[in-house]
Amino acid sequence: MTRIIFVCMLAVALISAQNTHYQPDANWRAPDEAAAKENPLAEKPELAAGGKKLFKRNCVECHGDSGQGLKKAADLQLPIVQNQSDGALFWKITNGNPDRGMPSFSGIPELQRWQLVLYLRKFKQIDTEKTQN
Ligand code: HEC
Repeated sequence: MTRIIFVCMLAVALISAQNTHYQPDANWRAPDEAAAKENPLAEKPELAAGGKKLFKRNCVECHGDSGQGLKKAADLQLPIVQNQSDGALFWKITNGNPDRGMPSFSGIPELQRWQLVLYLRKFKQIDTEKTQN
């Protein structure tokens, strides 16, 4: 009996370590006005390269090199994340969700946060390639 409990606990630990079933916090939603904001850099996709540098410096430790999400951090490739507007992602990066482990990055200058949003869209392409193969 103890062994069964142990195996179950191990399975739960392994599953949560992979975070394959990331579900955004339903209470953590950008206000409509913030979600409707457009990325002022939308016409400058080349600036995503700067977003990549910022991501490596500030985000990979939790979200991983391809945004796949380590431990409890969100898998940023998932449609449930990618289907959100630029404004909503910008708002989440700015405010964070400290109760669930996502820090606020309001200290990063505004345009650089928009650069991060540009870069996050690259993860969507990774996801598409994955499903096509
Ligand atoms: C200390 C770990 C940590 C760091 C560093 C971190 N994140 Fe997160 N992030 C999280 C966690 C945990 C969540 C999930 C929060 C939740 O469950 O609501 C998250 C959620 C997110 C989401 C929202 C996903 C959704 O549910 O809609 C975005 C976007 C995001 N992070 C982007 C970033 C970016 C960009 C950076 C770097 C500037 C960053 N994160 C740095 C831990 C981190």
